[in-house]
Amino acid sequence: MELRSASGPLINGYVDPALVPHRTVYTGARMPAIGLGTFGSDHVTAAEVAAAVEGATEVGYRHFDCASVYGNEHEIGYALQQVLRKHLQREQLWITSKLWNDKHGENDVIASCRKSLTDLRISYLDLYLVHWPFPNFHAPGCDVTSRSKDAKPYIHAEFMKTWRKMEELVDLGLVRHIGTSNMTVPKLKLLLRDARIKPAVNEMELHPHFQQPQLFDFVRSNGMVPVGYCPVGSPGRPERDRTPEDTVPTQDPVIVKIANRLGIHPAVVCIKWAVQRGQIPIPFSTNRGHYLSNLEGVVSEPLSDDEMGEISAIDRNCRLIKGQVFLWKDGQPWEDLWDLSGDITPP
Ligand SMILES: NC(=O)c1ccc[n+]([C@@H]2O[C@H](COP(=O)([O-])OP(=O)(O)OC[C@H]3O[C@@H](n4cnc5c(N)ncnc54)[C@H](OP(=O)(O)O)[C@@H]3O)[C@@H](O)[C@H]2O)c1
Repeated sequence: MELRSASGPLINGYVDPALVPHRTVYTGARMPAIGLGTFGSDHVTAAEVAAAVEGATEVGYRHFDCASVYGNEHEIGYALQQVLRKHLQREQLWITSKLWNDKHGENDVIASCRKSLTDLRISYLDLYLVHWPFPNFHAPGCDVTSRSKDAKPYIHAEFMKTWRKMEELVDLGLVRHIGTSNMTVPKLKLLLRDARIKPAVNEMELHPHFQQPQLFDFVRSNGMVPVGYCPVGSPGRPERDRTPEDTVPTQDPVIVKIANRLGIHPAVVCIKWAVQRGQIPIPFSTNRGHYLSNLEGVVSEPLSDDEMGEISAIDRNCRLIKGQVFLWKDGQPWEDLWDLSGDITPP
């Protein structure tokens, strides 16, 4: 991967998208190695996120991570329509959306994808993900104790019924790639064994304090691209996703030291590290200065090998998005969602 010097691609608040690194997925398609996240974390309005999407295209972003559950695809669709009318062709963009947990039913998958396409005002998605491997959902803005009344564990046969419909979306030409999110190694092993169309990516929490080396290596060695959410530690995440043990990667002395050397925000160090390590970070921001500096971070002076080594040593195994609201039994520890024993947690 080539990173350019700051003097080349940075012109008047614009980064030439051709200079942004790309990852090649197994179909040969090229995916921009940074995307803009669009989850307003229950407190940023849909209109603000849509304005950020439009602004991000102006500064050089070409990749957007959307989801029906973020409740803003309709507004983002209007922004995309403006962008496609004014200055870009659809083929220049990489647009991801996700199937929400209440739409895993065989009759819901295609309809839900069509709804996202209608809302986003586009005719195909570059990537459609199963947002969580559980059909358990929560209401927007709920607290950490919220549970679906008929919550279930992971049942592979059920997941495969959903996946067959995801495959059909590719056959129908509605989506170019399908993928997973919040999966674990044992769940992915089963999916890779049984899929007709394999997942192109796994979207997973990845930041300097949660590097998930085993899952990261598994994803890459099986021909998938790791997409990293919460890449700067999600300082604006909902209350339900906060616990007293959580750490803050942007306050880590190693990250702060590197930020001081380069004269950049610690968040940008996290983004540079992510892209150099080989994942695709999808930082959220509605602040033009912030999302521009994140993009500039991936085309400017790279971190040194020593700095990359120092960051790999600060992993705290600190998962921020623990997913309590997707548990299926009363009194269950959140770790049950993540198959920490190496086997899928029994029902
Ligand atoms: N698949 C999943 O289950 C899943 C789960 C969670 C998230 N996601 C996706 O991942 C995306 C990113 O995750 P996230 O939004 O939770 O967390 P994040 O990207 O780690 O953090 C976003 C926060 O960081 C701030 N920020 C970003 N760049 C900054 C900079 N250069 N300087 C200072 N502050 C900066 C933003 O504030 P400002 O707006 O003020 O800049 C925002 O509050 C989401 O938007 C969503 O698309 C997916």
